[in-house]
Amino acid sequence: MANTKACISGIHGYVPDYVLTNQELEQMVETSDEWIQTRTGIKERRILKEEGKATSDMAAEAVKGLLEKTGTSAEEIELTICATVTPDTPFPDTANTINHKIGAANAWGFDLSAACSGFIYGLSTGARFVESGRYKKVLVIGADMMSSIVNYEDRTTCVIFGDGAGAVLIEPSTNQLGVVDEIMHGDGQGRQYLTLKAGGSLRPPSMETVQNNEHYVFQEGRPVFRAAVKGMTDTVRRLMERNNLTQDDVTWLVPHQANKRIIGSVADALNFPMEKVMVNIDHFGNTTAATIPLCLWELEKELRAGDKLILTAFGGGFTWGASYLEWAYDGA
Ligand code: UT7
Repeated sequence: MANTKACISGIHGYVPDYVLTNQELEQMVETSDEWIQTRTGIKERRILKEEGKATSDMAAEAVKGLLEKTGTSAEEIELTICATVTPDTPFPDTANTINHKIGAANAWGFDLSAACSGFIYGLSTGARFVESGRYKKVLVIGADMMSSIVNYEDRTTCVIFGDGAGAVLIEPSTNQLGVVDEIMHGDGQGRQYLTLKAGGSLRPPSMETVQNNEHYVFQEGRPVFRAAVKGMTDTVRRLMERNNLTQDDVTWLVPHQANKRIIGSVADALNFPMEKVMVNIDHFGNTTAATIPLCLWELEKELRAGDKLILTAFGGGFTWGASYLEWAYDGA
């Protein structure tokens, strides 16, 4: 048990202005608003259209808002962890680009690649730095510009994903509320079902990889769906059991937003009424590492100090897990 408790002391988000509606997608691929809404729960998603802008720009906007609302200067930040599968460039990393853009001159940073579980993996990592006693101000960002790797001719993926960024500040807790427990998993066995096949060392870019559309997200939806429901349900159940929590004790379940049917199935299996489940997939779609912080940001005003939250995610890798935290402050 760590002596210093880490807590989320602030949250902010950013989504681009451009709204890509189901109606616009109907003009691009053979799909329908009805199919998309019934199968995924998504009505619209945000897309970063500005020339020359990338993941770090969305993240920097989220962090600027976060610093302002928490009264933190950029120079105070010691470490930035950016969870993303759409870094500005394979290297250098995006975290240090964000540090440069926000003026975090005293920070170091690194990227974390865990697809849709990126934010909870990042929260786990950031919390350990603070619990060590050595770090007092750590940024954890979940940011993805999925539109940069989505094929807008592939109806099985282009209707799902959107762009966005969410950021939290992690500090030592002053009221004993904060990150309590977690169960994290990773298993390379499911990697073929959700992947970007080329562009890495296994299949470097070539004419062939471009012609085969291997630089776009590939997903075989059904096995991912099944594994996501099972992975999140089992993990949340075990986390609740070992912390002696009942559904009544938990104020909010905050699931990764991949599909409203997945969220509903997990909530059902765990006997959580939907009023206790954070959902915003209808207007942001699946923003990969950004979904959980974007949910918390949008519903921040509902949160009260002491609220018990379970965050859970599942994503490519496969990666999955759940975090249990006691929210540390009253939302404004
Ligand atoms: O975020 C990280 C983890 N990712 C996930 O958790 C996503 C998990 N998977 C899913 O959410 C769902 O599997 C999808 C939303 C991706 C797909 O929904 P589904 O209900 O599993 O559909 P399906 O793939 O089984 O396809 C059913 C039918 C197919 O037609 P046939 O073969 O039955 O004739 C598809 O070709 O729906 C067709 N289809 C579409 N039709 C209209 C697939 N995409 C579309 C579309 N519009 N956009």
